[in-house]
Amino acid sequence: MSNKLLDLSPKLSLITERDLELSEFTAVAIPVTPGEKPQLVKSRFLTALNNFTKLDLNIELANWPEFTAKAGEIIEVPLSAANLTRIYLVGIGEGNNEDLRKSAAAVGRKVKASNSQMLCALSEDKNLITTIAVALILSNYQFSLKSEQKDKKPSFTIYGEFEREVERADVLATAVWQARDLIHTPSNIKNPEWLAKQASALVSSAKNSGLSITVKSGRAIKDFGGLVAVGNSSPKPGPRLVEVSYAPKGSTHWPHVVLVGKGITFDTGGVSLKRPYDAMIGMKSDMAGAAAVLTATVALAKTKPKVRVTTLLMAAENALSGTSQRPSDVIKHYGGTTVEVINTDAEGRLVLADGLAYADLNLDPDYVLDVATLTGAATLGLGRQYAAMYTRNTTLAKKLNEIGDRVGEKVWHMPLVDDYSVALASDVADFNHTADKFNFSAGSVTAALFLEEFAGDRAWVHLDIAGTGRSEVDAGENIKGGTGFAVRLLIEWLDTF
Ligand code: BES
Ligand code: MG
Ligand code: ZN
Repeated sequence: MSNKLLDLSPKLSLITERDLELSEFTAVAIPVTPGEKPQLVKSRFLTALNNFTKLDLNIELANWPEFTAKAGEIIEVPLSAANLTRIYLVGIGEGNNEDLRKSAAAVGRKVKASNSQMLCALSEDKNLITTIAVALILSNYQFSLKSEQKDKKPSFTIYGEFEREVERADVLATAVWQARDLIHTPSNIKNPEWLAKQASALVSSAKNSGLSITVKSGRAIKDFGGLVAVGNSSPKPGPRLVEVSYAPKGSTHWPHVVLVGKGITFDTGGVSLKRPYDAMIGMKSDMAGAAAVLTATVALAKTKPKVRVTTLLMAAENALSGTSQRPSDVIKHYGGTTVEVINTDAEGRLVLADGLAYADLNLDPDYVLDVATLTGAATLGLGRQYAAMYTRNTTLAKKLNEIGDRVGEKVWHMPLVDDYSVALASDVADFNHTADKFNFSAGSVTAALFLEEFAGDRAWVHLDIAGTGRSEVDAGENIKGGTGFAVRLLIEWLDTF
């Protein structure tokens, strides 16, 4: 198992009015807007259904008085007509993307719980179908290493002629699903070498795609001082630099985007051990940034945007051992900048700094974007719904903000407060890496200021996904654990070139 991608890809089908065969379904989900009268809902849908089925369906609406039809609220109406045993009346709130995502996730959860064959007729609006389909799939995500596996593949049918929208959903959801698989994998399986092999497997499964990959380790990464200092804390196989490139024929003159992902396969904190110890439990997710940039890049083989993409996975384990780095060590990053290590638990920025410097000095990117579960401070500030976004490029910030709202991966534009930069001074090196001077607090901001030092003059964006990369609850589109945050945002953004 350890070298194979877990194959959990969901299945999705589409049905058009012409071939509607209601006997194939055990449940139907239909939308209800707030304030809608029960009688109207009945006539709107039952007439339609009865016309197809030639049955005379009727529904009891006993629970109706408490039902306000806000997004995700569901009434389950038992029914006995051929195979059909349930009608779900689904509140869709305002009927926008965000609300339909909630509604579809609620329907998806019913499918997951009951194993029903669901016909989902939540919307007739083309612009909402992709969102709905993605939420249906993702709410059925599961990850299990139990010795007895329930082999349950979710299956839904979207009602309507929406082939392109559903295909798009399949691309997006598959990429998120793959990222989640990588993030959920425990760290006794998932070391940097494993991550590199997963990347190779994903790349080679996408044939004739313009994708290629190189994996570097050992002497080949000796100039990547941060990656080596962090990664040498763990026994062999040690850190990896994975470079995936999307450069189809004819792409030489296209714009070039570099993505950099934090790929810490486990973060103990190192010598500056994480306390309380429980704070470590979620740290198998500390490669969520790398997972997101990887699977989003692999998806480009299908979406085929006109942009060249180079994706760097900075893969290392931050372990506690005799070869761990020490607080007060000075390391030399790619490109020569020296950094005094203050707290070995701030390891993410050390591996990212090498990636950003390498991008700036070698890859001549038009845009550089890094994604990282970087600071607890980002979670304190914004919670788990918004990622902290840092950039000086307001146009790009706006764009990412809009896309994020649409796809349900929301980002909040945070300030790079120049006054805090003095906190990065060091007595012995170019910088100290935790901004330990002057007590400005603002840990997510100062981490971003540190990273910016390595991005040169490039148009650069940093996404701190410490809060959004992992869900602590089993709700909506997520189970507890890795969410795959940033995958949809990146795929959609890269599609705008
Ligand atoms: N991986 C953590 C950040 C993190 C915390 C991610 C909680 C997800 C949930 C990162 O490596 C870290 O330990 N950051 C430190 C930095 C500090 C020592 C300057 C932090 O945020 O406490
Ligand atoms: Mg850490
Ligand atoms: Zn970390």
